[in-house]
This record gives sequence, structure tokens and C-alpha cells, in this order.
Amino acid sequence: MGRGAEGGGVGAHTYETVQHDVLVIGAGGAGLRAAIEAKAEGASVGVVCKSLLGKAHTVMAEGGIAAALGTERAEDRWQVHFRDTMRGGRGLNDWRMAKIHAEEAPVRVHELEAWGALFDRTPDGRILQRPFGGHSYSRLAHVGDRTGLEMIRTLQDKAVHAGVDVYMECTIIRLFKDGDRMAGALGYWRATGRFVLFRAKAIVLATGGAGKAWLITSNSWEYTGDGHALALAAGADLLGMEFVQFHPTGMVWPPSVRGTLVTEGVRGEGGVLRNTQGERFMFNYLPAAWRNDYAADEAEADLWVKGDRVHNRRPPELVTRDVVARAIFREVHEGRGTPHGGVYLDIASRRDAEYIKRKLPSMYHQFRQLAGVDITRDPMEVAPTCHYMRGGVKVDPETQESTVPGLFAAGEVAAGLHGANRLGGNSLSDLVVFGQRAGWGAAQCAARVGAVPRVDSAQVEAAIREALGPFERSEGESPFVLQDELRHLMNDNVGITRTGHGLEEAIAGIARLRERLARSRVTGSRAYNPGWHTWLDLHFMLTTSEAVARGALEREESRGAQYRADCPEAVPEWQVVNVLVHLADGTMSTRPERVPEMPGDLRSMVEEAYRRV
Ligand code: FUM
Repeated sequence: MGRGAEGGGVGAHTYETVQHDVLVIGAGGAGLRAAIEAKAEGASVGVVCKSLLGKAHTVMAEGGIAAALGTERAEDRWQVHFRDTMRGGRGLNDWRMAKIHAEEAPVRVHELEAWGALFDRTPDGRILQRPFGGHSYSRLAHVGDRTGLEMIRTLQDKAVHAGVDVYMECTIIRLFKDGDRMAGALGYWRATGRFVLFRAKAIVLATGGAGKAWLITSNSWEYTGDGHALALAAGADLLGMEFVQFHPTGMVWPPSVRGTLVTEGVRGEGGVLRNTQGERFMFNYLPAAWRNDYAADEAEADLWVKGDRVHNRRPPELVTRDVVARAIFREVHEGRGTPHGGVYLDIASRRDAEYIKRKLPSMYHQFRQLAGVDITRDPMEVAPTCHYMRGGVKVDPETQESTVPGLFAAGEVAAGLHGANRLGGNSLSDLVVFGQRAGWGAAQCAARVGAVPRVDSAQVEAAIREALGPFERSEGESPFVLQDELRHLMNDNVGITRTGHGLEEAIAGIARLRERLARSRVTGSRAYNPGWHTWLDLHFMLTTSEAVARGALEREESRGAQYRADCPEAVPEWQVVNVLVHLADGTMSTRPERVPEMPGDLRSMVEEAYRRV
């Protein structure tokens, strides 16, 4: 496999051609793990990353990777992790994925360790685990508050040494099929604006999320819903798009860093949330059904933090993220927030300075350098930030293949594992568990296919012409204006709290933005042209945003991360139903789909957990 010269028909645009058995789009944890596996299976593998290798949203999962290693309590086995994940996802998870995930996460953590990841240790040399929201036991293997970074470092090293070809600063804008199966992808190099066609027998989407469509987000510029939109356009279905995760704690001040993640590890290490009246308000927000698992008052919560994890119940700050994010939102909304629109997260009064600097070094430096706050002395100001898409491409639980033959998806762009709410730390384990499976599935698929499928050059030419369209117009709006409007629209109407009316406004607003995008223009050359890149990204952002808004409109109830102020209760009929999003002839539609039925033994295990609380 390899690279070809630039080609193209008479009068056509030129582009280079690259060929692989397996093409992985995205170089975060899922993409790299998939690439490593496909390579180990003997496939020729290319990894395309929009940014530089090593810069991935995986590093924004700071506090740890969830796996039932049983370091703190031997009772923590896969069954408990499975049950916690299902309970956190309010039963809307694909139980098969939740089971695979809980069973295989420990293997993948030990594998990372064998590949060089340096996890924090207990005094007797085992992998140290910390508590996180919704997990029954201390379950997050971690490297201070830089776990995602350590994972990326490890996987990137492994992938490069395995001989995976890496294509950096390349954005994929279109997928092509040969008949009904995947055949290739068209991209452009950011540096030159030239096009490149990747031909492949199997493609793995590992593009992460779409946080950049919201105003306040922990995501960086790359996360514009590319994979979600590419998959839809290729004929795959999306699932659970309404369940956008707002991480409870992002920075709020200064404005230039608003949304930057403040790891849940701060609360895992004992940090508490207070409003401006000094009240530890999370005690007021514990759902009735969960009360037995959480401390009744500050005194009990403190005993737990001091180490009595057997007899005392967890602090209320460690309830699931959907509950904490909504509580903070409400405190601020009702006037008990800080002047900058946040609440206080205090670790300074709970732990000594040396402990904080050792366990949370990134948070210490982040606040010191970006906000001028010393978190060993003063509280942090925090508020929710758009962090993660739980919805994504519907995939086969075993292989991660979508409904389009030869198209796979893993990590944040794939759906199923997390249901209505993801537990912190389950993203990192998701990446390696299902990244490995996607890489294996794609390699097997490539081996079955035989010859590399054909890509129709007329389709490539049409896609290039379309991509260059905004350069042809002599007038039109700037894509940056449209991007800004979209982010406000999503923030105001598709945020933590939604209404049917607001969602309809969002859908109508997205349609108007799409029309304006078709008339907008970019200037300058194709080399490093951020206006043009934004124009291209906006197509993905609009499609993915519409899928979220339509999913949220269809689900007329509140459950997990979806809170509808106009239907604030969970509705029993929706208990076993996911919303599927489909695109045909340019029109997006939604339909309900029942979640796969759990076998009796697993069902009673999960139901028992519900009863117990
Ligand atoms: O808070 C955090 O460290 C984020 C973890 C995650 O999203 O899983």
C-alpha cells in the first residue's frame, strides 16, 4: 500500500491518492488503539489526524480510566462496574457493550501499563484508584490529573513503533462507497489546501465529539462533529444524540478560558461545592432513589473522605454528572452563583497544599497560570461545560461495524455504551476497549474484502468542486459569523435545560444557517486558511447539531442528561427506547428504537441495584 502521484481527469482538480487496508480517521485514544490492533492483525494501516499527533480530546479525561481492578475493595468486579454503568445510563445503554466494557477494561488497563503507562501506585505497588461520580468503589486508575495525556503518550508511541502511517493536519471531508460498502475518504492538508484521496477496504471513524457547536465547551477546535456527519451522509444511523454531556465543572473566569475542564478528580479527592451563601448545596439535589448510597450530612461525608469507605457513604458531590451539572446550573440561575456565573469548588480547606499539588498538579498550574488562583489556598469558580457526546454511530457491539459495510466507529463518535448519562472515567476505558475491537473488526473486514474497492472519480471531483465553492463567490458572509451564531443558538436552546419550543427554534435556526452557509464566502489562498476550514467544519457542525436537536425534540421526557423543562419527569414508555437519527435524500428523520433486551440474570442484577437504593 502507499502513496500515488497527484491525478485527476482532463480539466479536473488534482489530488494525491493513498491506499491502505484500514484507514483510521482520528488519533485520540480510540483511533490509536484501533490502529495498533489492525496493524497487529497484519493490515496496512493509515491514521489521519486533523491536528498534530498527540493533540486529542482524550487528554481532557484527566481524572482516570475506570476499570474494576479491585485495588481498594476486592468486591469491585466487572459485575459491579457493569451495574454502575447501566444505572448511570438509566438503563438506555446497550447492555452488550456495557458488559464487554466492564469485562475487558481491566485487561486494557494492564495492557497500557505493559506498554509503558506509569499509573500512580499504592504503597504496596498496585495501581492506585480514586473515586468518581456514580462508581460504587474507587475505580479510576490514574496518573495524577493527567491520565488521558499519559494514555495518548503511550498509545502514540506504540502505534508509531508498530509501523502505522500517520497523516497529520489532514481533515476528511467526504466518505465514498463502492456500491453499498466503504471505499475511501477525501481530505485536505491544512498546510497547503491540496486534496488527498484515501482508498481503503475498511474505515474506522474515531473523530470524537462536537463540543465546538456549543458556546462553552471543554473541546478544542477539532471537535466539530465530523464523524457523526460523515457517517450519517454515508447512510449509517446515529443513536442517543440528545444525551450531550455537560461536565459539571469547567472554568468560568477569566472569559478567555471559560469552559476549560476542571477534572472530577478534584471532587474525587475530596473537593466540595458551595454556593455564595456558603451552603454545600449538593445535599439538596440527591435523587430520592439514590439517597441510601450518599452521605446524609457533612459529618458523614467527611468520614468517607478521611478514609472510612466501608461504613460511610459517598459525598453528594460524587453523584452522577447529569445531576451535579443541573444542580450547579440551578444554583446560578436562582441567584446563588458567583458574579462570573459559577459556584465554588473548594479543595483548599479539605486537603493540605502538598497533597493537592501531588494529586492535582495540572489543576494547580492551570488555575495559577490562567486565573491567578492558588487552589491550595482559595476555591475555584466553576460551572458546567459541554464536554462529551454520548450519542453517535450505531454499531455492532462485538466489532464496532456500523450498518454500512466496511464503516466502523469507536470512542466518542460511537453510541451504545453510555446510555442516557456517562460515568466519568468510562470514556477512557471505552476508547481502549472498543478501539481494540474496532481495529480487529476492520482488519478482519479488510481481509475478507480482497481488492480495494473502487472510488468513482466523478464523485471525488464533485466533492472537491463543492469544497472550493466559497472561494468562487465575490460576496457573502464570513463563516465565523455563522459559527458564532450556531454556538449561541445551541447554548440557548439545546443546553442543560431544553423545551420543545426552544428545540424547534434551534432546528429552524440551523436550517437558516445552512442556507446562509451556502451563500457565504471565503477569501485568500487555500494554504492555512482558517476561514475556509471553518466553512468546511460548519457543514459537520450543522448536521450534528440538528441531529442532537431532533433527538431531544423526539424524546418528550427528562432522563439522564436530557432535561426538558416542559416535560420534567421520566416517562415510563421511554424507559426502553432510544432515538435513532437517519439521513436520506438530504432530509433528517428520527424514529424510536427499543433498547436490546437484557438476559434475565443481568436484568435481576441491575434491578436489584435499583431496589437496593
Ligand atoms: O473530569 C475528568 O477528569 C473527565 C473525565 C471524563 O470525562 O471521563
